[in-house]
Amino acid sequence: METYPQAELLDQNMDSPPSQQPRDQEQGVPSPWQPSDPGRDNDKHQPRASGLAPVLEVRSPARVQRVRPDEAIDKRAARRAFDRAAATYDGVAVLQREMATRLLERLDYVRLSPKTILDLGAGTGLAVDDLQRRYRSARVLALDFALGMLRLARRRGSLLRRPACLCADAEALPLREGGIDFIFSNATLQWCNDLDRTFAELRRVLVPGGLLMFTTFGPDTLRELRTAWAQVDGHGHVSPFLDMHDVGDALVRAGFEGPVLDAEYLTLTYADLGGLMDDLRGLGATNATRERARGLTGKARWRAMRSAYEVHRQEGRLPATYEVVYGHAWAPMQRVATDGAVSLPVSAIGRRSPG
Ligand SMILES: C[S@@+](CC[C@H](N)C(=O)[O-])C[C@H]1O[C@@H](n2cnc3c(N)ncnc32)[C@H](O)[C@@H]1O
Repeated sequence: METYPQAELLDQNMDSPPSQQPRDQEQGVPSPWQPSDPGRDNDKHQPRASGLAPVLEVRSPARVQRVRPDEAIDKRAARRAFDRAAATYDGVAVLQREMATRLLERLDYVRLSPKTILDLGAGTGLAVDDLQRRYRSARVLALDFALGMLRLARRRGSLLRRPACLCADAEALPLREGGIDFIFSNATLQWCNDLDRTFAELRRVLVPGGLLMFTTFGPDTLRELRTAWAQVDGHGHVSPFLDMHDVGDALVRAGFEGPVLDAEYLTLTYADLGGLMDDLRGLGATNATRERARGLTGKARWRAMRSAYEVHRQEGRLPATYEVVYGHAWAPMQRVATDGAVSLPVSAIGRRSPG
């Protein structure tokens, strides 16, 4: 286990509770929300031999019926927070880096030769170098709504091969239809208010047969913080996160094909709560929910929250649980225009045999 200035990524042993079946599986209905290759998936959960030695509980989280209110995120506040956090982000993004690594590893099993890659919510461009190394002839477009983040992202790569940077909202992409071969998105989709709209946009800009691959967070994320605050006041202090089944349903509604989703828990531990709060601030992941309390939180409420959080302390450390959701899906090979016309990529049209 490697130790970081504040956080430690827990290396729990593998005797996990029995895995919970996704909803559709329970009912005997084939579900898209399962690993595509169970053998590979088991490997994936083995702790790595070197470097970060995470985690984790190998179980899929139970379905949680938690409806996310419309416009739950105050985007202007979120954007400001990410802008401010640009300089500190890389120093505290332990979890995000690990998530990106795990997501990139999944590409080992996908045959892909993209010419254009969109890194959606690229932040400081943590994944840009890896994407460029993996796909040597691809052009990476780093998109983020926080300019401060993009200023750092544009320094990634080499002098001859910088990413193109675009400051824009993931929910309304200023990109032409069908121009992107592969969309990569790490730890960003949870900041979008309308997942249907976002996925529709992603599908629109993907070429037919293009790939979307992402991570996001599920409802158990920061559960200790959520329950500690719930004992103190009625304000939303932690974003409401969508269940992976709902994310999968949204992919299907947007017309994506072959969606596969799974989730695992990663836990960071801290010596004290200040460490967690500093990290969240350093990431820009501050409370941008619309139902947040405005103004400063009083000392008494902070004290009450701290003592409520203490019940979670284990072996001298305070855990912060993250439910990490992984997903991928394909844009359909054919497009149906609003007038009902069907278009296919030329490569999908077979040759007529001579004679
Ligand atoms: C937690 S960071 C992840 C950054 C990067 N993908 C990584 O792995 O380090 C989330 C990023 O998404 C960006 N973001 C959040 N909502 C967005 C939106 N609606 N449109 C574009 N970018 C967004 C934020 O500015 C931030 O840089």
